[in-house]
Amino acid sequence: MKNLAILGSTGSIGRSALAVVDAHPTRLSVVGLAAGRRAEDLAAQIVRYRPSIAALTSDDDLPALREAASKAATITTSGPDGLIAVATHPDVDIVLCASSGTAALEAVLAAIAAGKRIALANKEVLVMAGALVTKAARARGVPLLPVDSEHNAIHQCLHGRPPDQVTRLILTASGGPFRTWPAAKLEHATPEDALRHPTWQMGRKITIDSATLMNKGLEVIEAHWLFDVPADRIEVLIHPQSIVHSMVELKDGSTIAQLGVTDMRLPIQYAFSYPDRWEASIPTLDLTRSAALEFASPDLDRFPCLRLAYQALRVGGTMMVALNAANEVAVDAFLAGRLPFPAISRVIDGTMAAHDVQDPATVEIVRAADQWAREHARTLAGELELKV
Ligand SMILES: NC(=O)c1ccc[n+]([C@@H]2O[C@H](COP(=O)([O-])OP(=O)(O)OC[C@H]3O[C@@H](n4cnc5c(N)ncnc54)[C@H](OP(=O)(O)O)[C@@H]3O)[C@@H](O)[C@H]2O)c1
Repeated sequence: MKNLAILGSTGSIGRSALAVVDAHPTRLSVVGLAAGRRAEDLAAQIVRYRPSIAALTSDDDLPALREAASKAATITTSGPDGLIAVATHPDVDIVLCASSGTAALEAVLAAIAAGKRIALANKEVLVMAGALVTKAARARGVPLLPVDSEHNAIHQCLHGRPPDQVTRLILTASGGPFRTWPAAKLEHATPEDALRHPTWQMGRKITIDSATLMNKGLEVIEAHWLFDVPADRIEVLIHPQSIVHSMVELKDGSTIAQLGVTDMRLPIQYAFSYPDRWEASIPTLDLTRSAALEFASPDLDRFPCLRLAYQALRVGGTMMVALNAANEVAVDAFLAGRLPFPAISRVIDGTMAAHDVQDPATVEIVRAADQWAREHARTLAGELELKV
């Protein structure tokens, strides 16, 4: 039996993870759950899974949660300390980081220090503090198992191969809802248009990131930290069918790919079962019924966010913090209807241009850069907003 803590249990990944628990009740048990603001959803999960510990972001929602918790005999906590308490509970074996944004950075570092295996769906934490997180995991001998489908695919393709055999990592991207939209039409793209993802059902923030291709940019940075491969050897290919989840090119010219249905329960289960494999709880891939597989290079003029992410990785240091923070601010403003779609990349570009890069040697330096970038991006977003 493996004991889980799920950070972000009420979200898209969190709910898929609980579906994996439902499919393997003799192998997985839930010890900790943490969510942001959906107190009612978390309360229902507490009653059903009876974790030992549960946390919410805000104290305001704790009374409602406590009522549900008392029935299920759980402890409830709130805020950043709550996330840490859930992630480091002594009975937890695996921490699934599936909260959105960067709130879980300290909790992930605390879980690593406590020797927990990390299943990482969240990409913002690695983009923001990849050096700190990977260094801590290496020092403590803690595995970081990627849940993001592309990195999960690469983890499967690399399986045991020495780094000197690998020439390229090839991340596939669906291309998002605007893959075929001309630049002029993108000027008028609405949040509703951007939230209509062609192949994946995901949370709102990552869906907008998929529409700008920033999601793929964040994944390039994530791949760099997870697999220790430089930017020049990480390539992105648009693959609208989302069947090939990613590929690894080896030095003898062979390319290894991982294929599967577009269902996050697959990579989540892999991260929970690794190095074992458990039977599938979802329908498997039927290639005779799939469309023809297509691949193309991304258009960096229509989707400049991907170029900005490569640029941030090449510059290094806190430039990746600035990229990520400015993106979160710009996506929020776009979702709130305050910023036009093309202005998302302008806010990020402007924030990066003004950023004074530092060595992200401590969490404090990382958080300070994040704070600065958010404030700068808010100012830029305010200026661009007037031009809508
Ligand atoms: N969805 C996917 O298919 C997918 C694939 C690959 C990677 N990812 C990555 O996985 C992460 C989650 O994505 P998602 O699509 O599942 O997002 P989502 O549906 O928006 O869910 C986000 C979860 O995080 C929780 N949360 C937000 N702020 C929090 C905080 N300060 N403390 C604790 N919990 C907090 C939310 O709680 P409330 O809802 O209660 O507020 C919710 O449970 C993202 O980093 C995303 O990039 C997602």
